[in-house]
Amino acid sequence: MAQRETWTSRVGFIFAAVGSAVGLGNIWSFPFQTASNGGAAFLVVYLLAVFLIGFPTMLIEFVIGRRSKQNAVSAFSELGYGNWTFAGAIGVVASFITLSFYSVVGGWVISYIVGSVTGGYLGQAGTFFGSVSSGTVAIGAHAVFMAITIAIVAGGVADGIERATKFMIPAILVLLVGLAAWASTLSGSAAGYAYYLSPDFGVIANNFTSIVPSAMGQAFFTLSLGFGVMIAYASYLGRDDSLPADSAIIVVLNTVVALLAGFAVFPILAATSGVGGASGGAGTAFVALAGAFGQLPAGQIIGLVFFIVLLFAALSSSISLLEAPSSYVVDRYGVDRPKVAVGVGVVSFVIGIAPAYGYVGLFNDFVFNILLPVAVLFIALFAGWVANRESVDELGRGTTLGEGATTLWLWWVRVVIPIVVAYTLYLGVTNFYSGIVTGAYF
Ligand code: PHE
Repeated sequence: MAQRETWTSRVGFIFAAVGSAVGLGNIWSFPFQTASNGGAAFLVVYLLAVFLIGFPTMLIEFVIGRRSKQNAVSAFSELGYGNWTFAGAIGVVASFITLSFYSVVGGWVISYIVGSVTGGYLGQAGTFFGSVSSGTVAIGAHAVFMAITIAIVAGGVADGIERATKFMIPAILVLLVGLAAWASTLSGSAAGYAYYLSPDFGVIANNFTSIVPSAMGQAFFTLSLGFGVMIAYASYLGRDDSLPADSAIIVVLNTVVALLAGFAVFPILAATSGVGGASGGAGTAFVALAGAFGQLPAGQIIGLVFFIVLLFAALSSSISLLEAPSSYVVDRYGVDRPKVAVGVGVVSFVIGIAPAYGYVGLFNDFVFNILLPVAVLFIALFAGWVANRESVDELGRGTTLGEGATTLWLWWVRVVIPIVVAYTLYLGVTNFYSGIVTGAYF
């Protein structure tokens, strides 16, 4: 079998991982989750979830990936714990399902790029969303998005994924800074900043059971945790650099992008339709923003820039979603990478036909509320209680961390993460179940 691929450099790995993390979750989902969950109050809980739970969980995935040099499914048996294969398999299933609806939303973004050029959504944001979000237009755009994703992954780890993300991440950052700066000049923007940045802690207290699962799900989703993606990406590390340092850079950059997206979106909404009305389903972001672009001077150009940023972000993530299941097939069966990428991508496209007919919310919530917490719970228990010696040893490799720091991490992974995640899972299951019985998804 051909030699397993590796990243060309440490920076290449960081870019690819940031590319995976930065996605629709940051720019589409984050500002709108924040808007519909009480603004700054949600932001506080979200940031705690990212740094206290997300960051140490990313280290779990990195440790498993780099130690085993295998995809998320084979990693467990490679380490000598074949019984735990299911934990990685849940993640790979989650990435597969997520790819199917992520690509549908990626297709919406493509339609909005076209709409920015033609002016199709100006003055009729709701109608435009209706015409592109489900049915044949949605399926066609979903096919285009999936085809681009397949082409990049087929290109390989270094020549495909690494090269594409090295270009897209800087582009996203520069364009978002420009958008946020432009948004600050709008009259009425102040109300947007206030809603976004001054927390009302009463909101947290009153909505605790809905804010916690949303913030935790958002934290895992945005950091690409619980999908086996970070296990796969870390498995391509050729050398031992400091995992905590890499992980800190990735978490911080990802947070910066989400915050920047908020700095663009909140003033734009405040200056047009208002920040309060932005609750609702998967389409709200598209309708609200396209509506805002229709009301602003130069809105069409700004809209074009915004949706191009969104497309780059979506693609640098979708390639990682395709990579996780593909790397399993490549490692396990030794099939050619391009063939695997096409095969896995096509099956995921077919599953995506359901969300392309209006079930994006159902798929999204199933992944957020159930699959991700389940996957994270098991990998934490695995790393903390089963492969604990290997985990601690791997975490320390390439670092100057003392025993105190690695022991703290170990106990955090053993106790704190499982308790918090189990509680989140309980709330997530309850919320998802009530969504099903009240018919919210159908
Ligand atoms: N992190 C991506 C986002 O925020 C989504 C994603 C999850 C991508 C898992 C890859 C793997 O949009």
